[in-house]
Amino acid sequence: MTAKLIDGNALSSTLRGQLADRAAVLKAKGITPCLAVILVGEDPASAVYVRNKVAGCEKTGIRSIKDVYPADVEPIVVLARIAELNADPDVHGILVQLPLPPQFDEDAVLEAISPEKDVDGFHAENVGALMQGKPRFIPCTPYGVMKMLESEGVKLAGAEAVIVGRSNIVGKPMAMLLLAQSCTVTVCHSRSRDLAFHTKRADILVAAVGRPRMITGDMVKPGAVVIDVGINRLPADQGGKLCGDVDMDSVKEVASLLTPVPGGVGPMTITMLLTNTLESAERCVR
Ligand code: GUN
Repeated sequence: MTAKLIDGNALSSTLRGQLADRAAVLKAKGITPCLAVILVGEDPASAVYVRNKVAGCEKTGIRSIKDVYPADVEPIVVLARIAELNADPDVHGILVQLPLPPQFDEDAVLEAISPEKDVDGFHAENVGALMQGKPRFIPCTPYGVMKMLESEGVKLAGAEAVIVGRSNIVGKPMAMLLLAQSCTVTVCHSRSRDLAFHTKRADILVAAVGRPRMITGDMVKPGAVVIDVGINRLPADQGGKLCGDVDMDSVKEVASLLTPVPGGVGPMTITMLLTNTLESAERCVR
């Protein structure tokens, strides 16, 4: 079997077209959807993510504000800016790019963002709402994964879903979303014993660990749907290319559906950020 690839760029392009239409409807009502993005420091990967988020806004008819601070900025300066953006009725979404430099208490920053503008879905109030099955904003990466599964008509109710990785950004919200769709969910992590025992049981396998090519074909059930959330930069002596957490060459011979890296989950994350921003702006006219 050779797995079919789920094209995140193509699905994103369809969804972003629909978002642009919704943005135009809002503009006709006098509301320009607006996302504010805060970047602290010079982490090159974060700078690329922020650039792509801002470019996604522009192309979709969403206004963006980008604030960049030096790595040694006092946290109070950023907190004051968040307070200003919270109070600005023309701003519908606020995102602080993670990770933050060590002088920051990351949780305190996320809690400072108004839950009504928390388009990342990281505020404790929004995490709780998701856990209760009443989400206000669904975290963008797992939301994008759900859209990819939906677009391929993957049957979720009763499926064995195994997630490798337990981060607040991906693993934990992914578990909540799959559970809400009646999957039987297992979350594995760095301390799991016999990882392959779990992954081989998965009808749906989500890899979100940040270790290049760690999921190999012998760890995958024949016919499984494999979602690769990893974005890893290989060292220069290995070509310096981007690669996922899934070893594409061996897994594509076993899985039925597979997301590529790049061009899989990555573009979907930004598409869902734009979706959450528009949704937030639309709530202003309801
Ligand atoms: N860093 C890595 N992923 C994310 C994300 O989805 N949102 C934010 N704000 N920072 C991140």
